[in-house]
Parts: sequence; C-alpha cells; structure tokens
Amino acid sequence: MTKLNVVILAAGEGKRMRSSLPKVLHTLAGRSLLMHVTKTARLLSPEKICIVIGHGVEKVKQSIKGNDLTWVLQEQQLGTGHALMQTLPHLERDGLTLVLYGDVPLIRIHTLQKLIAKAEEKHCVLLTAVIENPLGYGRIVRDTETGAIKAIIEQKDTSAEQQEIHEINTGIMLIPNEYLHDWLPKIKNKNMQNEYYLTDIIALLVKQDIQVASSQAANLWEVMGINNKSQLAALERIYQRDCADKLLHQGVSLMDPSRIDIRGELICGSDVEIDIDCIFEGNVKLDDFVQIGAHCILKNVKVAADTTILPYSLIENTEIGENCKIGPYARIRPGTKLSNKVHIGNFVEVKNSQIASGSKANHLSYIGDSIVGKNVNIGAGTITCNYDGANKHQTIIEDDVFIGSDTQLIAPVTISKGSTIGAGSTITRETPEGQLTLSRSKQVSIAGWKRPQKPKV
Ligand code: UD1
Ligand code: CA
Repeated sequence: MTKLNVVILAAGEGKRMRSSLPKVLHTLAGRSLLMHVTKTARLLSPEKICIVIGHGVEKVKQSIKGNDLTWVLQEQQLGTGHALMQTLPHLERDGLTLVLYGDVPLIRIHTLQKLIAKAEEKHCVLLTAVIENPLGYGRIVRDTETGAIKAIIEQKDTSAEQQEIHEINTGIMLIPNEYLHDWLPKIKNKNMQNEYYLTDIIALLVKQDIQVASSQAANLWEVMGINNKSQLAALERIYQRDCADKLLHQGVSLMDPSRIDIRGELICGSDVEIDIDCIFEGNVKLDDFVQIGAHCILKNVKVAADTTILPYSLIENTEIGENCKIGPYARIRPGTKLSNKVHIGNFVEVKNSQIASGSKANHLSYIGDSIVGKNVNIGAGTITCNYDGANKHQTIIEDDVFIGSDTQLIAPVTISKGSTIGAGSTITRETPEGQLTLSRSKQVSIAGWKRPQKPKV
C-alpha cells in the first residue's frame, strides 16, 4: 500500500462570514467545520495530516488536539498552490497526498475511499462534479475526442466557451508526492487573481503525459463549500435532513424529520419515537421503545428501554434506567444516575445524584448531591440545601422514605430508612428509622390584628 498523507487547506480568513471567528471554526451540527474534515481524514488512517493555517492561528490550533496533526503556517495567502507548497518540507517523496478543505465539511469517507481506489500507480485523481450552475468554480477541460482531462481553468480565467462547461473542480484531489515536489515550484501566478493556483499543476502533468483521472461524490452536498452564513445554514439543514432520513430508515419514528437536530451521535433501538424540535448533543443512546416528547434537549445521555421523556425536558450527562417517566419540564444536570421506574416530574431539578428504583419526585423540587434509595416519595417543593456558600454537602435519603411537601433538607444530612418527614419541615439532623420527624412551629392566630393600610391621599 502506498503511504497516504492528507493536507487540509484552512488558511483563509473567510471575510464573507462577517465574523471575528476564523471561518473553519464556525460550527455545523455542533462541531467546527475543521473538526468535521479532520474526523473524516482520521478515518483514512493516513501517515500524516497537515493542516495549513494562516488566520486565527492560535484559536484554530487549540480547537483540535492530537499529535497526529502537523500544523503548517502559510503567512500570506497567495493561493492554493502556494498553500500546498508550504507543506512540502513535511511530505516525503514517496506516497500520495489527498487535498481536503477546511471549509468543505461534509465530504464522506466512502467518497474518499473511492477516489483513493482510483489512484493506480502514479495517477492523479480529481474529485469533480457536474452542476447546474457552475459559476465561480474551476472548470474541467477535457479532450473533445478522448475525454481525457487536459486542465482546470479558474472562473476568472475562462473563455466564453469554457464558461459553458458544467463539470467543475471540487478542489479535492489525490496526487503523488513526487509530482508535488517536482511541479509545485514551477507554478506561476500570471492569472487574473495573481495567485499560485494548485489547479495549474494539472496542465503541467498532462504535458508530461501523466494521466489524470476523475471521480465523483455520491451526494452533491458532500463537496459544497462554506463561504457565508447563508451557505452554512443551508448545509446544516441538508446535514440534519440526512441524519433524520437515516434514523427513519432504521425504523425510528420522527414526528417531523425536518424538525430534529443531531449535534453528535444519536443511537436508537427499535420502536423509538421522537416528537418535534428535539436537540441531541454529544453521544445519546435511546434504547427500545423510548419516547421523547416535543422540545427536549438531551446531551450525553443514555436512556434505557421503555422510558418516556415528556416535553420541554433538558437532560445532560445522565444515565436513565428502564421504565422511567421524566418531565414535562424536568431539568437533569450532569452526574445523575436514575435507576428503573423513577419518576421526575415538572419543574424538578436533579444534579449529581443517584436515585434508586421506584422513587419519585413529581413536582417543584431540587435534588442536588444526593443519594436516594428505593421507593422514596419526595413531596412537592422539597429542596436539598446542598451549598453553604463555599462547599457542597451530601444528602442521603434511604429506602422507603416519605418526605412531606415544602421540606428543606440541610446537608450534610441522612434521612434514615422508612422515615416520614412532616410537610413544611427544616431537617438538620439524621432522622431515626421508621419514625415521623417534623420541625414545624405551632400554628397561632392573633385576635384583633389588622393589616397595615396605605395612607389615604
Ligand atoms: C478553488 C479551486 C477551484 C474550485 C474551488 C472549489 C484553485 C485555484 N481553485 O477555488 O478550481 O472549483 O476551489 O470550491 O485551487 N486557501 C489557503 N491558502 C491560500 C488560498 C486558499 O489555505 O493561499 C484555502 C482557503 O482557505 C479555502 C481553500 O483553500 O479553504 C480554497 O481557496 P479559495 O480561494 O476559496 O479557492 P476558490 O477560488 O474557491
Ligand atoms: Ca472557495
């Protein structure tokens, strides 16, 4: 196998994004454009990945970690040929180089593998596309008789006749390193943009009788580049629709495939149902028969079988067991683990807590830094007071506890097995097992008391 290198061109500023952020750091489906391309490049297990950078250098470098990446600085952006020239000291003479673009985020591994498979010994392969409106793109000029590729002509340098060509250069190409070493330094910038065009290498190779092959992507959107926010938004929708179609194909029910956002990986079991306007971030796994109500946001969440999440719930870094009922309007924060048959109802916030099977907190509560046993009932308005202004403290609620409404549990505190807490209590000390504990001042009525009156004017 010939050694494969990948070069990602990412030095451009992206003026048309009208943003202080370097273009390749704008996000699509929750990941930077550059991250998408780098992830795909990594799937090819290349010898080396060189990323050419020039704008927002530090920010771009910090955005992706890994010692498999070679950062190459192009101080002035003098063209794609010039950009590639900067990588020559990092590329050995043998091997092949695949050129990718930091602003063409959705190129697929399958398309690249097909392109690589076409590169027989010493052949250069271009990824081309036939499009309805080729304006702005470099055109693929072929021999009228043999159909062989002769050159790529940039839009601004095309003749009227060449402007009629609908086969365009996507920019992505595979080229043997020795050709880059031999021919890149010979490219001139005598063109309309005074740039060193990488595409000029093609005509130089053809002159040497070196064959240039072409390959096509399975989907046009794979080769779409981002120059402005409108293209970014359009590609985001295309990507999301593709994710939705894949889920539908796997048998997931989506109430509206145009109203779901997946910013990461969503893995679904069988008979999963997802209502409209849900966002899935990071790694989310939904087991068989899970139902997700409308307008939920789940980030790094595992949901076991038969659990229902009702509308408007926000859940992050949490594991949820089987047969649970969550929401509507539940907020579950990082570090939470719910066992089976747990109910977390409306306006209940749970943070960094474990709740064992069969326990319920159905209304208006805060459960933070807590360990809750089995079959516990937490009444409406119960608050674990876990924070003293400096430190967080733990609350332990053992099995079969019943906590009356509007109770404050001042942590650190343990509510022992089988305890009942009377409504409206403030509990500061460990309660005895199986007993009723309450801390409530006596109800008094004051005869003759009058409400203060506003002075009459
Ligand atoms: C390029 C191709 C064109 C193709 C089109 C597809 C050339 C000369 N032209 O044109 O045939 O149809 O892409 O979208 O290659 N970059 C650098 N350093 C530079 C210049 C560019 O890193 O000095 C990077 C940019 O950040 C960008 C990419 O290379 O990601 C493409 O550059 P751009 O100037 O947009 O090329 P196009 O004119 O679009
Ligand atoms: Ca471009």
